[in-house]
Amino acid sequence: MKQTIQELLASLPTEVTNHIQYLERMRQDFVANVSHELRTPLTVIHGYLEALLDQDLDETKPWKKIFTQMHQQSLRMENLIENLLLLSHLESAEGENKFEKQTPVASLLITICNEAKELSGHLNHQIQLHADDKLCLLGNPEELRSLFSNIIFNAVKYTPANGQITIDWYYQKNQAHFRVTDSGIGIAPEHIPKLTERFYRADPARSRSSGGTGLGLAIAKHVLIRHQALLDIKSQLGKGSVFTCIFPANRSIYLKTKL
Ligand SMILES: Nc1ncnc2c1ncn2[C@@H]1O[C@H](COP(=O)(O)OP(=O)(O)OP(=O)(O)O)[C@@H](O)[C@H]1O
Ligand SMILES: [Mg+2]
Repeated sequence: MKQTIQELLASLPTEVTNHIQYLERMRQDFVANVSHELRTPLTVIHGYLEALLDQDLDETKPWKKIFTQMHQQSLRMENLIENLLLLSHLESAEGENKFEKQTPVASLLITICNEAKELSGHLNHQIQLHADDKLCLLGNPEELRSLFSNIIFNAVKYTPANGQITIDWYYQKNQAHFRVTDSGIGIAPEHIPKLTERFYRADPARSRSSGGTGLGLAIAKHVLIRHQALLDIKSQLGKGSVFTCIFPANRSIYLKTKL
């Protein structure tokens, strides 16, 4: 008979589970400390490269291209460190319920949609938003912003030019639903269960070339856990994907009048 990890852990002696928890805390602290230590030197390097590029550099000289690439890579490392720090914050119990409030999700989604249109740029995706503005969520607005933007920006990144992206925010069976549908590259079935693992990429070359850290959906997963919400992913290779987040009834607030 196959045992789940929880069942296996429950069957172990207390000293062993305590030690596993200790090792897990050490791992989390190590990642958080390394990320924190790397932040300052990287900010300095990034700042100097920015200053250098602000100078009127001779376009014909090879170092203009070199500095531009160094600048792009330092930006990518900064993103990576910010995401690692956010992930370790989300993994810890820190501030779990402290910053929760009734969040007007529809207006949050309008802002994120405008950012997604900027990200799309000349790729000219058709981005549509259907959000019920009476539907609010009890949760941490910053964490929710990170969750929604990761899923929406993924739709932009993994959908070829002129593709269709639809964002729905609706109330069904007393539960708030956030759904992003894209007509993008899709994901093969074997990758779907692993997508929320850190650094897992279904298409590593495409993710890296777009500057991806491979941490977006790992962050999304932790935000969902902290809000007792579920993630459902449906996808067809070459046709597109649908990412749906379902929030529990006790967090889904349907107002009688519009905000
Ligand atoms: N809408 C989507 N369509 C196709 N593939 C997707 C989609 N969303 C996610 N993926 C796949 O899941 C992988 C993990 O996504 P995740 O957001 O965690 O990382 P990333 O997008 O590579 O990096 P980052 O989020 O830091 O930019 C991606 O690399 C991509 O292969
Ligand atoms: Mg992503």
